[in-house]
Amino acid sequence: MLRVERVVCEDWAALEELRLRALETDADAFGSTSADERARPEAFWLRRILVSAWFLAWSAEQAIGVAAPVASPNTLTEERHLDTMWVASAWRGRGVGEALVQAVIGHAMAHGATAVSLTVADGNEQARSLYRRMGFRSTGERSPRPRDPHQMRE
Ligand SMILES: CC(C)(COP(=O)(O)OP(=O)(O)OC[C@H]1O[C@@H](n2cnc3c(N)ncnc32)[C@H](O)[C@@H]1OP(=O)(O)O)[C@@H](O)C(=O)NCCC(=O)NCCS
Repeated sequence: MLRVERVVCEDWAALEELRLRALETDADAFGSTSADERARPEAFWLRRILVSAWFLAWSAEQAIGVAAPVASPNTLTEERHLDTMWVASAWRGRGVGEALVQAVIGHAMAHGATAVSLTVADGNEQARSLYRRMGFRSTGERSPRPRDPHQMRE
């Protein structure tokens, strides 16, 4: 049984574990690196949980996916940015990503957001397909990836 829940402070270690796995196994998909976030103290993760709404997908007691709507890097305060979208590889293609996106959009809208944005690297077709299916549309705004300026993201 899949469930998606907002992360509470008691779950900070599960968030840390999943976020580091995401950064280690799919480094190309993210702006941060596991080196940036490994060995951070508990306070670092608690602050994250308190500053933004992080969501974990759970199967029984196992955390299998993570997503967060963070304040938009743009100037629109009513906009949230979908960040850190990741599902453990054994669980992909089974709707976990969809459930996480729904949770993030639902939370953002319930808290006054009028738009949710995200960035996706060129060639990440699984993520693009999910986002299109969930109603996201291409803006055509493109920029080099901060970690690898030879690769573009939209
Ligand atoms: C992108 C991601 C979050 C999607 O999560 P998910 O739970 O697989 O999402 P869905 O089940 O909705 O599947 C998404 C698409 O990928 C396909 N897919 C992904 N992994 C698959 C797998 N292992 N087997 C079969 N299909 C897979 C699905 O069929 C679906 O395609 P469709 O929309 O054409 O039907 C997940 O693939 C992931 O964590 N990727 C690595 C990190 C990443 O790229 N994050 C996004 C950064 S912008």
